[in-house]
Amino acid sequence: MKQERGHFRSKIGVILATAGSAVGLGNIWRFPYMTGHDGGAAFIFLYIICVLLLGVPGMVAEFVVGRHTSANAAKAYRKISGGGGWSVIGYMGVFTSMVILGFYAVVAGWCLEYFFASVAGNVVGYPGGAGEAFRAFSTNSYLPMVFTVAFILLTHAVVTRGVRKGIERASNLLMPLLFILLLVLLVASCMLPGASAGIRFLFKPDFSQLSSGVMLDALGQAFFSLSLGTACLCTYASYFSRQTNLARSASQIAGIDTLVAILAGLIIFPAAFSVGVNPDSGPSLIFITLPEVFCKAFGGVPVVEYVVAVLFYALMVLAALTSTISMHEIGTSFFSEELGLPRGRGAWLETGICAVIGIFCALSSGAVPELRLFGLSLMECCDFLTSNILLPFGSFLTCLLVGWVVPRRVVEDEFTNWHTLRGGLFGVWLFVIRFVCPVCIAAVFLHQLRVI
Ligand code: PHE
Repeated sequence: MKQERGHFRSKIGVILATAGSAVGLGNIWRFPYMTGHDGGAAFIFLYIICVLLLGVPGMVAEFVVGRHTSANAAKAYRKISGGGGWSVIGYMGVFTSMVILGFYAVVAGWCLEYFFASVAGNVVGYPGGAGEAFRAFSTNSYLPMVFTVAFILLTHAVVTRGVRKGIERASNLLMPLLFILLLVLLVASCMLPGASAGIRFLFKPDFSQLSSGVMLDALGQAFFSLSLGTACLCTYASYFSRQTNLARSASQIAGIDTLVAILAGLIIFPAAFSVGVNPDSGPSLIFITLPEVFCKAFGGVPVVEYVVAVLFYALMVLAALTSTISMHEIGTSFFSEELGLPRGRGAWLETGICAVIGIFCALSSGAVPELRLFGLSLMECCDFLTSNILLPFGSFLTCLLVGWVVPRRVVEDEFTNWHTLRGGLFGVWLFVIRFVCPVCIAAVFLHQLRVI
């Protein structure tokens, strides 16, 4: 029996659900880390240029594929390219999203554990310090696995409720809540003594720090953060209505994503500078350094310290959840539509595969460090394979497909909503998709493979 496909009901639902996918650990953990690593404001300046020049046009290209075909990722690429080799982009997107969900759920699981621990009052003030607390948890033989699987099951529960009731409703509730929590933490962080050094670091560019490496880092961060290259945007766009303005939605989503990243920077850097913590600490910035920051910054008032810790990890869980929902949906729609399974069964298949990947990743980064491939832990390997190879490659191929292979009339119809919108920017966008995006993405790709 043919199943009715869902649709996002409202304009705001489209924006919030897709922004929910984009906003995640990439904004709150990876963006501040990269900013700290690459010199602050100058990196942010380049990042914004990359989002505007390459990210937004790339998003519109994926939206065109998704809305034109109203199908899961694999079918969408097969249909729009008329079969043949281009279909591989869709299958690659399904595979990439499963691997990302597997390792992303491990970090999201850490956030979930930290959330419970902060509610129980155990995150700040652990005997031996926050570093010891993190080590004890992440190397525990079963806890990281339990939290990884719990996070995937939480995602499953939302996704199986369907597009409108599950994804759209969850995003409508979670995204505004996320903003409120961010603003509360921002005010708390910026009021700390010495916070102004962190604010200067974020907004006063020192262009002498710029190098080609920083430029390419900014590009890579833009892809990961906007969920570009996994067919995730294509899958969500398959639920857009004919009235959705693709270019405007892409701009709004990119705007929200960038705003959240900068808000996260405004929470982390003023606090880190205030207590003299190195901003360049990777994963430990959130799980090891921040509890110390909360403790030193708000330690005089235990209630504030408690509330800030609980709010922060709640925020991390919410942000990660709206992203894992989008990754899960790619596989769920793929399995249910391609294998003709009921949606619920398709979702279980996706959950099962991702849980297995997640369990191995959790073990490799904790209890069983011998689980290694190519000199990296399995978790680092999954991250490298997806972020550094598959994402740029998927995005590169999508730009070539939409720019050069799909008939111009089809692309123009989607861009202008069948000539009901002004199409003034269509020519510029097409030029960017055809030339600027492929060249720049190829440069990121080669740089990440250490070829240039
Ligand atoms: N954009 C998400 C983040 O910033 C991660 C993500 C990547 C989500 C790819 C979906 C697909 O955390």
